Amino acid sequence: MECLTRFDSPQLKKCHSGKVRESFKADEQHRLFLATDRISCFDKVLKTPIPSKGAVLNLLSAWWFEKTRDICPNHFVKIIDPSISLVREAKPIHLEMVVRAYLTGSAWRNYQKGERQISGVSIPNGLTKNAPFPEPIVTPTTKETSDRSITAKEIIQEGWATETQYQQIHDIALNLFKKGSAILEERGIILVDTKYEFGMINDELVLIDEIHTPDSSRFWLKEDYRNNPETVEQLDKEFVRAYLMEHKKGGVYPEILPDEIVQETSRRYLELYERITGTSLKLPEISPGERIVKNLVREGFMKEGCVILVMGSPSDKGHAEKIAERIKKYDIAVTLRIVSAHKNGEKIPTIMEDVIWCYEPAAIIAIAGRSNGLGGALSANVPVPVINCPPFQDKLDFLVNINSSLLMPSETPAMTVVDPKNAADAAMLCLNLPTIKEKFREKIGSVKKTLDQANAQLQEQQDV
Ligand SMILES: Nc1ncnc2c1ncn2[C@@H]1O[C@H](COP(=O)(O)OP(=O)(O)O)[C@@H](O)[C@H]1O
Ligand SMILES: [Mg+2]
Repeated sequence: MECLTRFDSPQLKKCHSGKVRESFKADEQHRLFLATDRISCFDKVLKTPIPSKGAVLNLLSAWWFEKTRDICPNHFVKIIDPSISLVREAKPIHLEMVVRAYLTGSAWRNYQKGERQISGVSIPNGLTKNAPFPEPIVTPTTKETSDRSITAKEIIQEGWATETQYQQIHDIALNLFKKGSAILEERGIILVDTKYEFGMINDELVLIDEIHTPDSSRFWLKEDYRNNPETVEQLDKEFVRAYLMEHKKGGVYPEILPDEIVQETSRRYLELYERITGTSLKLPEISPGERIVKNLVREGFMKEGCVILVMGSPSDKGHAEKIAERIKKYDIAVTLRIVSAHKNGEKIPTIMEDVIWCYEPAAIIAIAGRSNGLGGALSANVPVPVINCPPFQDKLDFLVNINSSLLMPSETPAMTVVDPKNAADAAMLCLNLPTIKEKFREKIGSVKKTLDQANAQLQEQQDV
């Protein structure tokens, strides 16, 4: 099964790129939250993605958002694709509201060193590894470049939240945790700890980000815990962590997982999803990138294909706009960019990054006169068809400069179409979309008909 490691599109504006998730602007009030199949372990993203992980994360979060609406309104609007949720844009409160029911992980390590407070919350003496706290505790951290534990008092003093806001999110976090624990308990799972994020939408406090997923929570199997509380393993990622620890070399963890580990991890994520929601997750056989494009097009967030008009200088804008107008008639997205192969060519891979990683059919039209290095440079860096359509001042200019567009070095498969309208049409055909093909079939038919009619008319006139 194919994985989704990256997803980008020249048609979507990126808001944020995290270790695992990407978000894109949907409109002024909404964003698209996409969970990739990337997995991060020991704070690092591994080079091997886990099939279906993104869909599990996204659909599980959505399931919990629906289940907990009675406790707190949240940002979730609807599922666009198994890996994408449409959510309401919020003004985030920059805190992670961590709730813990057991002494484990970093809290246990600090406890062993003698610490008896987490984020200002006192914990009793005499606890053993993985022991439950008398009550779940809220231990917030800030969301900064490097997160830090913070006490309730500091949160208010430093202005991270107002006193009322903090009291509210503190209580809601505990209620969400209680409900989450109860639901998971019935399914034989212990909610060990988790974190919640909140934000404001207008004047309303809402739960944002994700909820009760394996990436934001620690889960244990009740049965494993009962058998041996000190060695209980975290469901999902523990398996990957164990492999990485076992294969650590020179103090460095491997970045690549062997196929058996990948398949088993994927199976565990799916199993966790089924166990929690009671439904099985069946993803269609097509590649996740293709599937996402289809769903985004169906929901109106994207056109079926797109053309990127790249100009070598701002003076090429008039020429580019003529081409753009023609393309828009086909209901295909078109965007304009400026980059010069000779003057800032080193920027091509960054300026074109979204095109390099997009999944919708795309084509580039390179617009640069005189010595045209742009088309070649683009086709050597971006894996989509490139068409040179250089603007010429006059016939002499054409004769002097056309060779720089026609003669491309090896590994730079740029084509040249001189007439701007033809260049636009050639780009449309490069997309190879059934809808475009249909439009061209009609157009060819109508050109033939016009010619036939003109000929018939002429014959009639001659007969007279
Ligand atoms: N509804 C929302 N509106 C605005 N920002 C949100 C919303 N939901 C989540 N966020 C923010 O989106 C970002 C998601 O990033 P994430 O993928 O978790 O990576 P990281 O937390 O490492 O930055 C977080 O900064 C989170 O606060
Ligand atoms: Mg996060």
